[in-house]
Amino acid sequence: MVTTCLAIMFPVLRIPITTASRNYEAVIEHGLLARAGEILREVFSGTPPVFVITVPPVRHRWGKTLLRSLTGAGFKTKIVEMHDGERFKRLSSVENLAEDLLRLGADRKTVIVAFGGGVVGDVAGMLASVYMRGVQLVQIPTTVQAQVDAAVGGKTGVNLNSGKNLLGTFYQPAVVLIDPATLSTLPDREFRAGMYEALKCGVIGNAGLFIRLERCSIKSLRKDRELLIDAIAESVKLKAQVVSADEKEGGLRRVLNLGHTLGHALETATSYRHFLHGEAVAWGMVAAAKIADEMRFSNNGTFARIRDASLAWGKLPSVSVTTSKAMALIRSDKKTESGVVNFVLPKEIGQVDVVSGVPDGAVSAALAEIRRLSRE
Ligand SMILES: NC(=O)c1ccc[n+]([C@@H]2O[C@H](COP(=O)([O-])OP(=O)(O)OC[C@H]3O[C@@H](n4cnc5c(N)ncnc54)[C@H](O)[C@@H]3O)[C@@H](O)[C@H]2O)c1
Ligand SMILES: [Zn+2]
Repeated sequence: MVTTCLAIMFPVLRIPITTASRNYEAVIEHGLLARAGEILREVFSGTPPVFVITVPPVRHRWGKTLLRSLTGAGFKTKIVEMHDGERFKRLSSVENLAEDLLRLGADRKTVIVAFGGGVVGDVAGMLASVYMRGVQLVQIPTTVQAQVDAAVGGKTGVNLNSGKNLLGTFYQPAVVLIDPATLSTLPDREFRAGMYEALKCGVIGNAGLFIRLERCSIKSLRKDRELLIDAIAESVKLKAQVVSADEKEGGLRRVLNLGHTLGHALETATSYRHFLHGEAVAWGMVAAAKIADEMRFSNNGTFARIRDASLAWGKLPSVSVTTSKAMALIRSDKKTESGVVNFVLPKEIGQVDVVSGVPDGAVSAALAEIRRLSRE
């Protein structure tokens, strides 16, 4: 058992994201929230009116720090709250926020700051893309999930009764400000769930990141600043590379869905109540590795490493979905194209491929494996 963790020193990091619609940066720094005003002055070369969209738990813990920084830099700032939680990721929230903004005098020069987890990022991002046909957007993510994934790449969206993220836009922010210090108030379960997305990035294209994460306990990731910044920065870099090459998911961007085909099926089968998203992705990643192993697609030992790393951070919620239910859900996933199920499968740590025509037998063996592992 390896007990030491490799800590890498990182200064302020600026990661460029280049897309056809806009070039921008993700800035990562411990304590960055207190410098948000300064950075936004650089980005906007002036002080346009700012509307911060957030949820009560984030406002309560971090609102003052952000507000002080923005007003200190000369921005006229107003905070607007939305209800907390995935069930408020709805078009009605976009509409209510738009009414609030209008009442408070927001015009086309307004900058919208999405300040919170992935839900706030998706809702406020969508609002910015349609409010008066589009106003400037800044993402300030405050969960691991949002810092390593949701805030970068420009996808916005809300849920419909028939499914998640079915209404949305591509809308790139002017800048993404990532302050890992904000994660200190995140519940342990949320923190860990988000970290599986970082582990996913390691499997997709960064073996070094995977190795550092497989050697670390979740406790040390919470405590060790450099380690945490490294995990976030390397994940953002990977997403930035992929999004820069493929803004609208023509092909390459699909690799980011490693673990998500089965992960979504697990979430849907349990009505989004049993797993946090990252937990379902962790199971999905183990299952994808098992499928790759069954098909002799991956190198020897790859499955075992992905399984062990995913389970090392603690017990994951149990899996009880039947194979036939999971198969039906996978076939009806919105990413399934004309009945052909594509799986992102690991070839080795740091390399994946999109594979179609995965045999049902391999999928059912993978489901049996994760059901078994979840009972251990
Ligand atoms: N746009 C994209 O590319 C993309 C990518 C991945 C996920 N997503 C979306 O992100 C959403 C999930 O995001 P999430 O996991 O961040 O959930 P979330 O936004 O619901 O946040 C989880 C909880 O943590 C609280 N919280 C946030 N920051 C906190 C902090 N610093 N301290 C204490 N509590 C805090 C929130 O109030 C909430 O209760 C999903 O809707 C998913 O579809 C979008
Ligand atoms: Zn995800």
